[in-house]
Parts: sequence; C-alpha cells; structure tokens
Amino acid sequence: MVFSKMNTSQNLNKSILLLDTNDASARHIKTILECLDEVEIIHEGKEINEFLSLIRKHTPDIVIFNLSPSLEASINLSRQMTSMFPEVTLIAAADTMDTSVILKVMRARVREFLKQPVSQDELLSVIHHVFSEKEAALSLKTVESKIITFFGPKGGVGTTTVATNMATSLARHTKKDVIIVDLDLQFGNVALHMNVKSKYSILDIVNCIDQIEIPLLKSQMPKGTNGVSVLSVPSRIEDVENIKSVHIEKLLLMLRKVFDYIIIDTHNAFDDLSIKAMDESNFVLLVTTLDVPSLFHTKRSLQLFQKMAYTMEKLFIVINRYNALEEFDLKSTEKMLDFPIFWSIPEQDYQTMISSINRGNPISSMKPDLKLSQNFLEMAMKFNGLYHKKTQDEKSQKKRSLFMFKKTVK
Ligand SMILES: Nc1ncnc2c1ncn2[C@@H]1O[C@H](COP(=O)(O)OP(=O)(O)O)[C@@H](O)[C@H]1O
Ligand SMILES: [Mg+2]
Repeated sequence: MVFSKMNTSQNLNKSILLLDTNDASARHIKTILECLDEVEIIHEGKEINEFLSLIRKHTPDIVIFNLSPSLEASINLSRQMTSMFPEVTLIAAADTMDTSVILKVMRARVREFLKQPVSQDELLSVIHHVFSEKEAALSLKTVESKIITFFGPKGGVGTTTVATNMATSLARHTKKDVIIVDLDLQFGNVALHMNVKSKYSILDIVNCIDQIEIPLLKSQMPKGTNGVSVLSVPSRIEDVENIKSVHIEKLLLMLRKVFDYIIIDTHNAFDDLSIKAMDESNFVLLVTTLDVPSLFHTKRSLQLFQKMAYTMEKLFIVINRYNALEEFDLKSTEKMLDFPIFWSIPEQDYQTMISSINRGNPISSMKPDLKLSQNFLEMAMKFNGLYHKKTQDEKSQKKRSLFMFKKTVK
C-alpha cells in the first residue's frame, strides 16, 4: 500500500525519529523514509546513551532504532523506551534474525522487528499501518456515545421490537453510527429482526477482547436496516456461560469509542449481565404493557431500580401496545407506579407485526408511514433531543430520586 495515499483528514502531526549509530544503515532507512509526504523525519543519535533524551526532546510518533552491536544494552534500552514513552511506537532493526533476540525485543513491547538491510515495502507498510492506527485512535476521541438499554420486566412485552425500531429510527433520523447489541444471550433474536447473518457473535469478541483493534471491529460488524451494526448472540446456547459481566464492561467501553448510539436489548431478568449493561448505560428504557402481570413486575422492578439508585434522568418507562380503550389509563398508571411514563407506543395488528419479523425488517423501515413507525421515529427524535438537553443541563441539575415523582404528577 502506498503510504502517501493514506487518509490524512485527522490532525496528526506525523514524525519519525531515526536513532541509528551506524551511518550506512541510517542513510539507507532515511532514503526510504524520504518518499513519505507530510512526515517529519528526524535523524539523530550518535550514541546509544542519548536515545532516551532525544525521544523526550522530539516527542515523535514513531522511533526506528537500530540495535547496536551490544544486543543486551539495546534490549534494555527498548524496555526503558516503551515504559517511559508508551505513546511512541518503536520499530527495531537489526542485522540478525536470531529468534531469541526477536523474542526479547518483542517482549520489551517493541512493535515491529525488521531485518537489516530494511526492505522498502516492509518498512513503508509498517509505518502506514502505525499512522493509520494513530489517526483512528485520534478520531475515536471525538465520539460522544450514548448507551441505551431496553429492559422488559416480563417476556413478550415488546422489548426487542422497541429496541430494534429505536435503533433503526435513530440511525435514520440522526445519520449517526448505531449498533444494537443482543444481550438476551440464550434466546435473543435481534439478528433475525434485523435480517443479519453474522460472522461474529459477542462470544468471538469476548474471546479476544484484549487484542481487538477497535476500528477493525467496527468495520467488520455486519450491518442491518438503515446501516445499524448488529452484535448478535453466540450460535450455541451452551457457550453463553463463558460471557461474564466483566466482558460486557470491556465490550461497552470499546463500542463507546466508535459508535454514537449503543442500543442494548436484554433478557427480562436482573442477572449479572443485564445489571452490568444497565449500570454502564446513560439511559435505561423499561418497556412494559398495561396489563396486571406486566404492571405488577414493573412496580417490583422500579423498587429494585430505586435501590440501585437509578434516577429519573436515567430510567424511562415506555408503555408498548397502548390502546386508549385500555382498562388502565396512562395517568392512573403513573400514579400507581409512582413514576412518570416517558412514552407510549400504539398497538399494531398482528399480521403486520409478524410479517415485519418474518422478513427481518423492523416495522419502522418496512412501513414508515404507519402510525406505529411515526411513533418510533418521534421517540428516537425526542430521545435524541432529550439527551442534548440533559447534557446542557447536566452540571446544574441536581439528581432527583425516583420517589420525588409524586410531587410532579398533576
Ligand atoms: N406495538 C406492538 N403492536 C403489536 N404487536 C407488538 C407490538 N410490539 C411488539 N409486538 C409483538 O409482540 C410480540 C413480542 O415482541 P418481542 O419484541 O419479541 O417481545 P420481548 O422482547 O419483550 O419478548 C411479537 O410478536 C411482536 O410482534
Ligand atoms: Mg426480546
């Protein structure tokens, strides 16, 4: 790959410090590096004992250094360089390919080991890769993500339907990067709702969670309706037990770096994984319906959420399959729950809903003109707006407890 073709849209001041006590090899590497555009090449270092102070002085992105004839001294120096300057990428060059030397150098956390005389293609490709990663890492810092977890206090209330439609509506409305994560690990079917055949599941990511290159993860993720990325459940039910809450924490930390919205669909239980996901979330949407069993479990869930110290800034109740002719109206339900209802979603006919699921196309995308689809879009818009309002007010706003709601009901 030609280095100069790389994307330079991010504001990275690229510099390479070449530390080489051998004039001939230094000249050879310098000639290769000179073909790079927009990269500052600094060649210094007549003595190995001045290498550390030169790195401190120039603060380069990359250091290329030639292992001196004293290999032991060079390896010790590599260790010092990586521990003192962790943000600098080290590339070592040597005229030996002795495995024990390579191993020692790599264990000193040197990024690449190149054989002298260094090959032009190899060196340029390594440098290209390093700068691409640094640029990607720089761009990660600009994403301000929000995690929204959908939780149903009872199966069948429509949690998955609401989560998938919220994800597709958010993607359509905001044009931002949205991912939906299926945490109903045993029987989750988000991938079916989104008609995505996934090469990777949460398990694949968990299995190599400490080695993953985050930008690569994002590009490899399968995409469903409206470009929503989908992270699906493991194909085998027995593998589910290998996924622990500590993995969820790491996973979400990673996803936060590349996605604007992370939508999580959960299993209807307060298990370790759901609780971890909800704790890590900016918002938890409790999806329920207006029937006695659902409301009974909603009330019990609210009691637990209160013990978990979730405030009204984090927790939102969404009534699904709402029909104005219901026995329970929204106002009396709010009073009974002692909690405000954030949103209500209308009931749709069975045939339409089932055909949307069977086709793997969320209703808001399959039939965008339906009242239900408009409702999902409005919820996404309202939620988006609410979030921005919240961030503006955040500093000045005192956290309200769940039990302050009574005073706000009119
Ligand atoms: N607003 C709605 N109107 C009509 N049917 C709905 C609505 N929301 C969900 N459903 C249906 O309810 C059933 C259960 O939905 P699902 O999202 O799988 O629930 P959960 O994830 O809570 O178990 C599905 O057949 C779905 O089509
Ligand atoms: Mg579900």
